[in-house]
Amino acid sequence: MGKTLAYKILENHLLAGELVPGTEITIKMDQTLTQDSTGTMVYLQLEAMDVDKVKTELSVAYIDHNTLQTGFENADDHAFIKSVAKRHGVLFSKPGNGICHQLHLENYGIPGKTLLGSDSHTPTGGGLGMIAIGAGGLDVAVAMAKGTYSLTVPKVINVQLNGKLKPWSSAKDVILKVLQELTVKGGVGKIVEYTGEGVKSLSVTDRATITNMGAELGATTSIFPSDENTKKYLESQGRGEDFVALAADPDAVYDETLVIDLDQLVPMAAKPHSPDNVDTVANIGEIKIDQVAIGSCTNSSYADLMKVAAILKGKKVHPDVSLVISPGSSRILKKLAENGALADMIGAGARIIENACGPCIGMGQSPKSGAVSLRTFNRNFKGRSGTLDAQVYLVSPETAAISAIRGVLTDGSTCGEAMPTIEDADFPKNDNFIIYPEGCSVDNTPVEMGPNIKPFPRNEHLTDTVEAEVCLHAGDNITTDDIMPSDSRLLPYRSNVPYLSNFCFEKIDAGFAERCKNAGACAIVGGENYGQGSSREHAALAPLYLGVKFVLAKSFARIHRSNLINSGILPLVFENPADYDDFAIGHKLVIENAIAQLDGEAITVKNLTNGKEYKARGNFSDLEKKMILAGGKINLIKGE
Ligand code: F3S
Repeated sequence: MGKTLAYKILENHLLAGELVPGTEITIKMDQTLTQDSTGTMVYLQLEAMDVDKVKTELSVAYIDHNTLQTGFENADDHAFIKSVAKRHGVLFSKPGNGICHQLHLENYGIPGKTLLGSDSHTPTGGGLGMIAIGAGGLDVAVAMAKGTYSLTVPKVINVQLNGKLKPWSSAKDVILKVLQELTVKGGVGKIVEYTGEGVKSLSVTDRATITNMGAELGATTSIFPSDENTKKYLESQGRGEDFVALAADPDAVYDETLVIDLDQLVPMAAKPHSPDNVDTVANIGEIKIDQVAIGSCTNSSYADLMKVAAILKGKKVHPDVSLVISPGSSRILKKLAENGALADMIGAGARIIENACGPCIGMGQSPKSGAVSLRTFNRNFKGRSGTLDAQVYLVSPETAAISAIRGVLTDGSTCGEAMPTIEDADFPKNDNFIIYPEGCSVDNTPVEMGPNIKPFPRNEHLTDTVEAEVCLHAGDNITTDDIMPSDSRLLPYRSNVPYLSNFCFEKIDAGFAERCKNAGACAIVGGENYGQGSSREHAALAPLYLGVKFVLAKSFARIHRSNLINSGILPLVFENPADYDDFAIGHKLVIENAIAQLDGEAITVKNLTNGKEYKARGNFSDLEKKMILAGGKINLIKGE
């Protein structure tokens, strides 16, 4: 039986276990990446593990989220990360170099390698034929310390691409179509592997747009084969020697298959407030728009921005529209400056902002109240833009640019404009934003720790009786951003969990933090897909700090479930989802004989308020049980 590309790479890296879906394996992790928003916590955890040099082939610390530096806090975080990176042999990418995933694709991604990143869009690397997985910060710290990562073997879905995209349709429309078909839960426990002759018509950066937003499917990762286009891309970045051809066996067997005809695709948009709320631009109609934001790790490649510049050239941004553009990397910005494309954008009235995450994370450019904002980004959850009542639509760069000129959401394929063609370009290497850690070690490099950096919270060993009061009864699809908001007010405090915890769940229920503090020990009851969205470890650390002992939900998103276990918090799934309705804030719960119950099929949760008993499942692997018993991963690793 032929093998999928994903399983071939996993097999090459297998250290323990078997490639059987649903079982646990440990794999060698070749590379890691961190960004600054999750990175401060990762490096605090790495320090706590008392390691010398990292065990990976390559680890990079990027600064791309909190680059505004409106106070000392961000600058202190950057200095801290820089000092720890030096101590442990990690490359440091200075603020201003660009967005972690775009930079990693350009500079370090290698077909066939494994990559673990403390950012949910790490699967961007799948566009180069990598197994690139987003994980919680602690998993990434452990991968650096040990060079390994443990995961549950995913199933593999095949998305077979036929035909070729028409002008004005793009890679963004491909992934929006996949999201429309599979939904934000459709990829959970799965790898999405792209095959078919349509793959040949997509460049590496097109493919990276698609694998990037595979995160929105909830997938473990997404992957494309490595072929002539991959070779061409690596050569254009001055790294032709990193190329290796990779593909699934022709008779590979997949768990599911979805067929997409690229020539049938038309411009699409994800409507407010979910990336899978997808329709065609034509069906949505010519709604009036207030803001257009182009960039993010999804759509800020050279080709994306060249298309935008070509559409804008000689035109004028509509008077009612604010158009902001953030290039993905310093290399791209430099090239756009050299070839005149930047002048075309500015000439049309575009605002050029720093090549960083920026508006994607609500760091500036929040739209006005009630605004319609078109964004080429990957998420449009309510409030993520920084404006709670903004209506954010996710679109391709082509749709964003033509709409910015016309002032209304526009389907370029029917508006009478020809889509300009774009030339490829080569990029000379520019290392001036990178600090190499040569010659440094833990002995001669002190940690630089400013006053805003507080130790991360640690849990205690699991007790045999776990008592907790329900402090929140949440709905379906709660995001990590709902749990721990990350807007410009709070981003400077990512290394200060005690301060952040005051804002935990503030968008859902502003009384949550206070209630937890009064209860002492608390529980959260949640609906389906609890913890979807970003890999934000703080969405587990803030509840840990507030005394959350367990979360009882209808289902969990993968990374958040891991983050809870890493923190020693039990994620429990209702055996009967209808039981969810029996719980309310203030109910007193207890799990008796918790330690023995961990080994059973189901765990009994007693509701002392209504006098009933409920069954819930943990489905914990042996390693996960050990972590929960120890009160979290760090305690387990340190033998405490
Ligand atoms: Fe940054 Fe947004 Fe991507 S925050 S890493 S550009 S999802």
